[in-house]
Amino acid sequence: MSPDLSVRAVAAHELMDDPHADQRMLERTYRRFALINSVVSRPGLLYRRDIRPRARRGRVRILDVGSGGGDLCRMLAARLRRDGLSADITALDADDRATRWASAHDAGAAVRYLCAHTADLVRAGETFDIVLSNHVLHHLGSDELQQLLSETRVLAGDGGLVVHGDIARSRFAYVLFAALTLPLAKNLLAGSFIRDDGLTSIRRSYTAPELAAVAPSGWQVRTGIPSRIELRWGPADA
Ligand SMILES: C[S@@+](CC[C@H](N)C(=O)[O-])C[C@H]1O[C@@H](n2cnc3c(N)ncnc32)[C@H](O)[C@@H]1O
Repeated sequence: MSPDLSVRAVAAHELMDDPHADQRMLERTYRRFALINSVVSRPGLLYRRDIRPRARRGRVRILDVGSGGGDLCRMLAARLRRDGLSADITALDADDRATRWASAHDAGAAVRYLCAHTADLVRAGETFDIVLSNHVLHHLGSDELQQLLSETRVLAGDGGLVVHGDIARSRFAYVLFAALTLPLAKNLLAGSFIRDDGLTSIRRSYTAPELAAVAPSGWQVRTGIPSRIELRWGPADA
């Protein structure tokens, strides 16, 4: 049955967030994030538009908040290296299951993997030129969202950029993800939480007007294809 997508399904829980989730299924989910993110999250656009222009001015410090399997950080490290640019990349996740898996699969990317909360980095006085997150906003309750936005602003220091990317909730996104993942459920995505949690994520995610309504002043909401949403703080363009 098709779910009600007129409001955020804030009571729906993702299976991978269960602290007792099956370890092998969780690991397969981290592994498959790379495939899913390369198709739906447009990391190449993020790189070309927001990261490469800044990296061309000098070594950049990048923070990925809620880095999960670390694939976004590894992809950025590879593109920067390919373009002869340098960066210090930190993959931050409060879930030690994620940081353990990601650091064991660094594959020479030289990413720094930290199991900590953004609040810990604020306390430590760390700052970054670019603070990113992908598929994190929809996970959070309203107080957690406000806390994340205020902490990531602090972590971006003066002149830094924050880009929180996520799915935008829509019938189109739900039907497309359901249709694309159905033929893969018994092979490529078998034994992972990708299909179930992806559909739950879409139900939990914001629409652009909803996100604009809860974002503090100074944050900018942008939309993109396919059913993407971005909450940004900082200079308009590099
Ligand atoms: C669904 S995962 C996203 C994984 C990855 N970014 C991706 O796109 O595949 C969301 C992660 O965000 C982490 N998280 C949420 N808020 C956080 C915070 N304030 N500091 C660090 N990690 C956070 C959670 O532990 C969770 O592992």
